[in-house]
Amino acid sequence: MPSSRTSSPPVALITGVTGQDGSYLSTLLLDKGYVVHGLAPTHSFGLPVDPRVTTHHADLGEGTNLSAVIDQVAPAEVYHLGAQSHVKVSFELPVYTAEVTGLGTLRLLEAIRHHQARTGRQVRFYQASSSEMFGKAVETPQTEQTRFHPRSPYACAKVYAYWQTVNYREAYGMFACNGILFNHESPRRGEAFVTRKITRAATRIKLGLAHELRLGNLDACRDWGFAGDYVEAMWLMLQQNEPDDYVIATGETHSVREFLDEVFGYLELDWKKSVVIDPQFNRPSEVDLLRGDATKAREKLGWRPKVAFRELARMMVDADLKLAEQEAVIEKHR
Ligand code: GDD
Repeated sequence: MPSSRTSSPPVALITGVTGQDGSYLSTLLLDKGYVVHGLAPTHSFGLPVDPRVTTHHADLGEGTNLSAVIDQVAPAEVYHLGAQSHVKVSFELPVYTAEVTGLGTLRLLEAIRHHQARTGRQVRFYQASSSEMFGKAVETPQTEQTRFHPRSPYACAKVYAYWQTVNYREAYGMFACNGILFNHESPRRGEAFVTRKITRAATRIKLGLAHELRLGNLDACRDWGFAGDYVEAMWLMLQQNEPDDYVIATGETHSVREFLDEVFGYLELDWKKSVVIDPQFNRPSEVDLLRGDATKAREKLGWRPKVAFRELARMMVDADLKLAEQEAVIEKHR
């Protein structure tokens, strides 16, 4: 049941609506009968937004306009997905990342707190926390109890936002939840992230549109799930009686190398003939291995992942093969 107790449809606001998760979450909420509003930066080059979503151009760097949007939309639920979310980029833009990913969350929490105080209406808040917060992980698998050891400016900013979310819950009684999501991918994943970079390149190589794929560290291991499954967990967190924090993961870990094996193998190609190791894609400090334990989410939310590693890789290859085929037709008529 949506959290709004009124008879009119519940209203949700999604920050980062032009991203992969924003896209899947919009569809999920619209299908459940929500009125959906989205926050998109003016300079966004993201995914197309469902025309049923009302978009607002507001920036996480600017508190005044966040307040104005919250007051105007009066959402029952806010899903805060907006961020500078690329780990490698955060080493190049650490202050910007702290501003948007860290302080941006605080600005939004403040806007919600003041809105609640003025109107007396409860707003439920979801914070997109990240498995990157575990960083140089002190134990495997990682749970809600695992100590954080962030390894990038991005992860430091996410740790800050995580604790602000906990603090607004404890200090002001806000219904605020952290979803500690492990990596989640899909055909809508941005091409700068390793899985999509690989499926895009492999399918283009298959059709002769490219010959080389330049990558960094192939030994890094990640717990990769399907973004469509993960947005459901976000919604479930906001439908509970009490706010809480949850790890969302598959419980399996695979290396980048294994992802290459899976993708190139499915296309009947040998990745060793195309992959070039390029140090420019290495990070100054790396997160070597992540694997999550989502027992709490399974027991309390009734959530479990539906798409496994192989199926995920193949789903992404199938979608990118179609894209590459379209590109091949355009090339031919050039
Ligand atoms: N992006 C990228 N590009 N990563 C590479 C490459 C490359 O060419 N070569 C190797 N890698 C390695 C990275 O060093 C990292 O260890 C791993 O592949 C995964 O990198 P990304 O796909 O960029 O994801 P991430 O794990 O750093 O972060 C993602 O997941 C987090 C957890 O959900 C992002 O989506 C974060 O925003 C998110 O919080």
